[in-house]
Amino acid sequence: MTAATTETAAHAPVVGTGHTRIEGRDKVTGAARYAAEVPFAGLAHGWLVLSTVARGRIRALDTDRVLAMPGVLAVLDHRNALRLTTDYTGLLGTRPDPTCAVFQHDRVPHLGWPVALVVAETSEQAREAAEALVVHYEQEPHDIELTAEHPGAYPVDGHMPAVTGKGDLEAGLAASAVVVDAEYTTPEEHHNPMEPHAATARWDGGRLEVIDSNQGVTWVVGELANLFSLDPAAVRVRSEHVGGGFGSKGVRAHQVAAVMAATLLQRPVRVVLTRRQMFSLAGYRSPTTQRVRLGAGPDGRLVALEHRSISLTSTVHEFVEPSAAVARVMYDADAHHTANRVVRLDVPTPTWMRAPGEAPGSFALEAALDELAEKCGIDPVELRLRNEPERGPVSGLPFAGRNLAACFREGARRFGWADRDRRPRQRRDGRWLLGTGTAAASFPSGAAPSTATATAHPDGTFTVRISAADIGTGARTALGLVAADALQVPPDRIRVRIGDSDFGPAMIAGGSMGTRSWSWAVKAAAGELRERLALGADIPPEGVTVRSDTTEAIGSLAPAERHSFGAQFAEVAVDPATGEVRVRRMLGIFAAGRIVNPLTARNQFRGGMIWGISMALHEEAVRDRASGGPVGADLAGYHVATHADVPHIEADWIDDTDPEDPVGIKGIGEIGIVGAAAAVANAVWHATGVRHRSLPIRPDRVL
Ligand code: MOS
Repeated sequence: MTAATTETAAHAPVVGTGHTRIEGRDKVTGAARYAAEVPFAGLAHGWLVLSTVARGRIRALDTDRVLAMPGVLAVLDHRNALRLTTDYTGLLGTRPDPTCAVFQHDRVPHLGWPVALVVAETSEQAREAAEALVVHYEQEPHDIELTAEHPGAYPVDGHMPAVTGKGDLEAGLAASAVVVDAEYTTPEEHHNPMEPHAATARWDGGRLEVIDSNQGVTWVVGELANLFSLDPAAVRVRSEHVGGGFGSKGVRAHQVAAVMAATLLQRPVRVVLTRRQMFSLAGYRSPTTQRVRLGAGPDGRLVALEHRSISLTSTVHEFVEPSAAVARVMYDADAHHTANRVVRLDVPTPTWMRAPGEAPGSFALEAALDELAEKCGIDPVELRLRNEPERGPVSGLPFAGRNLAACFREGARRFGWADRDRRPRQRRDGRWLLGTGTAAASFPSGAAPSTATATAHPDGTFTVRISAADIGTGARTALGLVAADALQVPPDRIRVRIGDSDFGPAMIAGGSMGTRSWSWAVKAAAGELRERLALGADIPPEGVTVRSDTTEAIGSLAPAERHSFGAQFAEVAVDPATGEVRVRRMLGIFAAGRIVNPLTARNQFRGGMIWGISMALHEEAVRDRASGGPVGADLAGYHVATHADVPHIEADWIDDTDPEDPVGIKGIGEIGIVGAAAAVANAVWHATGVRHRSLPIRPDRVL
């Protein structure tokens, strides 16, 4: 067959039309294999042993008794483990978190620190032996408590400056007709993807292969190659199906421990984290204490804005939850000051969690805006419209599209906002007090260089290969639609292969940049393939393959403020007798670029909004001061929103095609959670007349 196979009848574009997930049937029938399910001959199982003290030193490990237990093959700890290299900057521009560089020294910097790996023939034998391993510690006093204005707080310039400022804040506040000055707190929140972290490592003909659950195989290859001083070409990471990630699935202790054990034993070794271990080793969202000061004229226009945030990190790695950064995008004022500071404590290192910075930051800022609206006697939607900035408040750069006002207008219309009585505590439904609230949302939009290949086969089908990760978003399906339009063939003639580092370097599923970055590369490869085939080339048995690399195209974008935006609306019912808060309905209207697959996109927005309900009402990890460890580190003790908590949730969007992007995409991964908790909290105020500045809004706090 020849290139004529591409010349189908006029191709109706499929980007923008709803398609169910390509792998949906495989997932629901169990045919899709997750990282811990891929079988290997001679597989050994590793079980991590975590410290039971929050600070100190390992004095001794009684390994002899454990080595004599049934099936036990080895115990790895700081005395016998491979030495790792940690002096490098990884592909995402970050230094390695020493927590993943396991067994390099005898120091214990937090409870749940990996101190040993027990490897055995079966998972049960490994677990039994790991639980029997006695570790002796030299314990030291620990400090795990984040307080407002902690004396140890310091600013950290990471990928953004820690502190920004212009204008005289105190003078601006003094000259303001209306001032809001409030402190907000958000708790420690934990990653709980459905699929716990899991990896199998093995040496295969001189190459290291890791079957893993992660958000980016290119990233994991880079980290493992650096840590083990290997040529990246000698490392292959595969991650075909991933049951959730949200920031937690990069390189962590279990992959590194698995590689160490596989190297020592020259056998495939699997290490899986338990749900409980994830509370120490998966990363989490730092608690924050934030202070917001707003000064405005009687018309509600801001003249002074300050947003300061303190988060915590471990003593071994600097990670900042940049909650104050959202103010740098959302609102301008002549006096405008923001600061992100961090405190080092004897706790595990936090990490990215869906909308890092924006999620807790928008709670504080958007709740403060609601307080300002109340004080000014202005409708909260109108207040936001009056404070729409012309340019980036801190950068001074133009916005490459800012359709926030359109989101608010469309959202207000559909939510029935116009009928709202601004006064609190006006509506009742039997014993329930009813209220509505709103908040704005934003999240940066970006793209990172990626490579992809597109192959035409003689039978008229095509294969697209890219090291993308589908963490449940529907990315695989979206990429098939993008390829179909570029090739102008129906999507059922395209196979999409992802999650294999041998497909070449690509962006991770993170920063709301995955599908955009990959689509850019897929469209480039598929588009060029179509052009080549249109010239009438015969297709040989091995097919015709075109490779794309978007490094140059993405590098040439001019500086601008690039973000997705959204407007969140919530209605709640509060029972003043029990303190129970029920969300009755939510609506989110987003301006987030072109929507590739409305079916999965709606899912993703709603997933974010549900997490926002969870953040507003349920999620809170409590750390025990005495032990330094989390209390109730499981899904019974750590509450997340479940079906019974989730009412009618609508997510929709306005047309917001990004002219700079080949497909028009901006990014939708994180924005759904942004502002969602504030909308709920503002609705609780409207229902009850009481402000809740600390999340979650538990019944005992409502009473
Ligand atoms: Mo996301 S927090 O960039 O996985």
